[in-house]
Amino acid sequence: MTFFFSVAENFYKDTNPAELVGKFGSPLYVYNEDIFRRRCREMASLVPYENFKATYSIKANANLILLRIAREEGLHADAMSPGEIYILEKAGFSPDEIFYISNNVSDEEMLYAIERGIPTSVDSLSQLERYGRLAPGGSVAVRFNPGVGAGHHHKVVTAGKATKFGINLDKADDVRELLKKYRLRLSGINQHIGSLFMTGSKYLEGIKSVLEVASGFEGLEFVDFGGGFGIPYRKQEGQARLELEKFGADFAGILNEWTDGYGSRIMFRIEPGRYVSAESCILLGTVHAKKNNFDRIYIGTDLGFNVLVRPAMYDSHHDIEVYRNGVIVGDGETETVNITGNICESGDIMAAERTLPVIYEEDIIGIMDAGAYGYSMSSNYNNRLRPAEVLIKSDSSVILIRRRDTLEDLARNF
Ligand code: LLP
Repeated sequence: MTFFFSVAENFYKDTNPAELVGKFGSPLYVYNEDIFRRRCREMASLVPYENFKATYSIKANANLILLRIAREEGLHADAMSPGEIYILEKAGFSPDEIFYISNNVSDEEMLYAIERGIPTSVDSLSQLERYGRLAPGGSVAVRFNPGVGAGHHHKVVTAGKATKFGINLDKADDVRELLKKYRLRLSGINQHIGSLFMTGSKYLEGIKSVLEVASGFEGLEFVDFGGGFGIPYRKQEGQARLELEKFGADFAGILNEWTDGYGSRIMFRIEPGRYVSAESCILLGTVHAKKNNFDRIYIGTDLGFNVLVRPAMYDSHHDIEVYRNGVIVGDGETETVNITGNICESGDIMAAERTLPVIYEEDIIGIMDAGAYGYSMSSNYNNRLRPAEVLIKSDSSVILIRRRDTLEDLARNF
């Protein structure tokens, strides 16, 4: 007999999975305000340095209500597109609270940020030239590639020798020339080495190499080290959290040493996305079928990869809980199953060969840690409707924070 414990303690407060799905439909993204706020605070205070700021990377989760909470918790935000800037402004972020990290953009996109006075970084010499042409005499930040990368999958490593991002550190002189040519002021330097590291060593290595480059530029206002802070996706196996306190102290040590040499206590920033939002959410779905195909058991649910693409795209692991009559199935017989969705592709698998409590039709499946790159990467593939999102608030009330798509939504652009 195996025992399954709820990995997110008291997540549902006064409600339960059955009640939520009954009221708001299935599948359903369910967020917990307390957890979201706690993660915001941990990032906001990560580094004991007086001029430190965490900018929330909204690509991980751009729900308007969650963005407002992140802002209340003192986070700024970074954006990758005019669409993200647009939503950030709607959530109340002012231009100086937004950092536009552009990548391969048109004049039109660059001007969208420039005209709003939103600090912008460019990540190639050709885009720096474009920026200079559009805003001569202005200020700009440059994204460097520190030469070290890290991440849970090669598709999310964003620095090092095999990625499209950043300007190589040995191109600093070319950057200087272009700045001069267009009378641009370099306001800051930024980088992002990749996503989901569970030990800080690569990140700290990346910090050191970008600070070395920063030393060669006078008058910087900030250096931004990017995101990538991991969360334990395998809590059921006892995976440990990132050791924030030690990491923050080591981080501050490097900054203090560097500022002594640079002669100014400039601003330092990080760009966490996943860390802020992932654990605040459980994705609920419903079991509609069960079958044996040859020697495998398939559990057929409404959790297709249109709802959460991470397992199909990166073979990502998400812990799974099974609920019956509103409570977690904690003990009893187990079996090894494949949790599948309702999309017409054989890669539509949420969890492969996973040992779980024996599952029956109408059980509810909970996909843990679904708050980052979940809804934000969801789609209407197979003309399926993207799910609703609800928030369990600190006072235990439950509110709808994004409605489910309707069939009319599918026809809206024709
Ligand atoms: N800053 C920049 C410039 C980024 O490109 C990213 C993520 C972040 C910050 C935030 O990284 P985070 O702290 O969330 O790791 N869809 C993948 C992750 C892709 C991350 C892309 N860039 C996933 O589901 O694992």
